[in-house]
Amino acid sequence: MITIDLQHAKLSEEMSSYKETVKDIHHMIHNKTGKGNDFLGWVALPENYDKEEVALIKKTAAMLQEEVDVLLVCGIGGSYLGARAAIDALNGLFPTNKVEIIYVGNTFSSTYLAQVVDYLEDKEFAINVISKSGTTTETSIAFRVFKELAETRYGKEKAQRRIVATTDKARGALKTLATNEGYTTFVVPDDVGGRYSVLTGVGLFPIAMAGIDIEEMLGGAKEAMDLYNNEDLETNVAYQYGVARQMLHKAGYPAEMFVTYESQFTMVAEWWKQLFGESEGKESKGILPTSATFSTDLHSLGQFIQDGSKVVFETILQVATPAKDLTVPSDKDDLDNLNYLAGKSVDWVNKKACEGTIEAHVVTGNVPNILLSLDKMDAKGFGFMVYFFEKACAMSVYMLEVNPFDQPGVEVYKANMFKLLGKPGAK
Ligand code: PA5
Repeated sequence: MITIDLQHAKLSEEMSSYKETVKDIHHMIHNKTGKGNDFLGWVALPENYDKEEVALIKKTAAMLQEEVDVLLVCGIGGSYLGARAAIDALNGLFPTNKVEIIYVGNTFSSTYLAQVVDYLEDKEFAINVISKSGTTTETSIAFRVFKELAETRYGKEKAQRRIVATTDKARGALKTLATNEGYTTFVVPDDVGGRYSVLTGVGLFPIAMAGIDIEEMLGGAKEAMDLYNNEDLETNVAYQYGVARQMLHKAGYPAEMFVTYESQFTMVAEWWKQLFGESEGKESKGILPTSATFSTDLHSLGQFIQDGSKVVFETILQVATPAKDLTVPSDKDDLDNLNYLAGKSVDWVNKKACEGTIEAHVVTGNVPNILLSLDKMDAKGFGFMVYFFEKACAMSVYMLEVNPFDQPGVEVYKANMFKLLGKPGAK
């Protein structure tokens, strides 16, 4: 369901020279012998997921969908990016499903928080608070605000029914609170890190609330799991992508730009940036992940990519069949001289823009391009794509001899902030 085209990637080495390395890393992932091996739960997740929990997710979502206009998804980083990527990509930016999803707990912006409070004034809402650690400050502050709002508006008992907590199965402040309050609770498995957790309760509950078929999504991931459980670099497209980006890194490109031609995929790019950035950026190593949405950003970043310093290679995620399409209308006066496109599909124009841009960037601009093509961005396709990038990321980061599954650098700003906030015990 995902193909790769490396003919514009300007690779200067033979990919086959990485065959043995890939084989070794493949076994390291599957036999759990590498760094961070206690966070490999995502590898078999599409098969081993908790079926009872998925049934409870669907039941809880069906119940709350009848009661509320808005679901507040309260989480940050891996605790919300995957759900947001899926919901935007599949439902679009003007969704018509019954429940509106609003994301909170991912910022300290008081203006944003206060605006959401105002927006909820005449709306029925539920809250899904999501935190593996249960102690993330952005999430905890927002949850306090909206928990209080729910309890004031609905009373304690009804508020308790409308709050769903997704957290560690046994540990943490949120787990204790959820148990004390009797909230419905979904589990972040011990062996799945935040940025690999979209196919656990973390992503699946908000996605189900948005009316998306989560079993289809898991089915897509399972297809990818079966396909990419394959040590052979010649046939494993996820590994080919993981290796190609490291070859370009080695050839002198410090940054990778993830490009899509779909406005509703901006959050897919944000999810991808977290996956690769947090997995790889350690020990002064790694490729800087950045992103753009074309053709929109061809009118802003395009100039730099074409003519600026040669620091970036592009990875384009194309969708072969768009979810929707329409044709360019004909106009009898043709004052804009566009009738030569009348009757053509807008997606056809988009694809031509992509072809023309590849040529401009690769041939004239000398910017390497990796082209990935996904059949279709539906629930199944999204699940497939998630697993594809997770597997590619693990391969690629292990090639740098870095632990793909920890994020020690994230703690530094927190320690400074806690000191400044006067948190008891902060040093
Ligand atoms: O990928 C990660 O581990 C992080 O982005 C976390 O998901 C993020 O920091 C939120 O953490 P928590 O779920 O503990 O609130």
